[in-house]
Amino acid sequence: MSKVSFENYKHLASMQDRNNTEVSGRYSFQSEGERRILFDLLSKLELKVTDSLLEIGCGPGNLLVPLSSFCRTSTGIDNEASLSRLKHRFDSETKIHCFSGDFLEMSLPETSFDKIIIYSVLHCLSNIHEVLTFITRALSLLSPGGRMLIGDLPNTTKKSRFLRSTEGKKISAQWEALVREAETYEDVVLNIDTELITFDDAVVLDLIAFIRNKGFDSFLLPQSINLPFGGSREDILVLASS
Ligand SMILES: C[S@@+](CC[C@H](N)C(=O)[O-])C[C@H]1O[C@@H](n2cnc3c(N)ncnc32)[C@H](O)[C@@H]1O
Repeated sequence: MSKVSFENYKHLASMQDRNNTEVSGRYSFQSEGERRILFDLLSKLELKVTDSLLEIGCGPGNLLVPLSSFCRTSTGIDNEASLSRLKHRFDSETKIHCFSGDFLEMSLPETSFDKIIIYSVLHCLSNIHEVLTFITRALSLLSPGGRMLIGDLPNTTKKSRFLRSTEGKKISAQWEALVREAETYEDVVLNIDTELITFDDAVVLDLIAFIRNKGFDSFLLPQSINLPFGGSREDILVLASS
């Protein structure tokens, strides 16, 4: 992955004055929208109490910790500073298995999972080669009959369409006012990452084809405008045959 972004997220997670919404790559003012992601994930993943759940790039667990109550087992992968925050959020009843490291390079867990979440992660990678490697490794961990959500892909073409719409113009004006008030991600990280993948319609549709060529069903799903970046992002749902 882009080492700069990986280090930035680790650095953010180690800053005690940052809250878990910021460490998860969102603005503090998006904390309500962030909670709405949980309802979206429950429905898109059809989570069941018998499921084993894996989140790759789980950050401090804003999604994984609450979702773990709905599943049989839960596992998170991310940098050690984020996982350390996540572990502090366990209650005595909750056990989340944690693996620290770069998912592109680490030894994979020797088990498969019924449900896998990769949410707001792939845009941290450097290029399409890394994205395809990341997805291929994740697919190898999906159980027969399983579901994976590659969520929150920032699609620049979708964003342009949205910004041209009446609703988009209105929401974008409100958004810019909120962001002006907030401290930006760039204000707190050490380095700006200049080597990052960009997603547009063509790349997103190529990803769907890539996953189908690997023998899985895959579909593009919209996000509600009430989600933190609902106007500009979308999700890919992957279904493994049983
Ligand atoms: C924007 S945050 C999203 C966190 C969480 N998924 C959520 O939506 O609340 C992206 C996370 O992905 C992690 N990440 C990015 N690339 C990764 C990789 N190659 N291996 C493991 N984690 C990665 C970052 O460390 C960061 O915690």
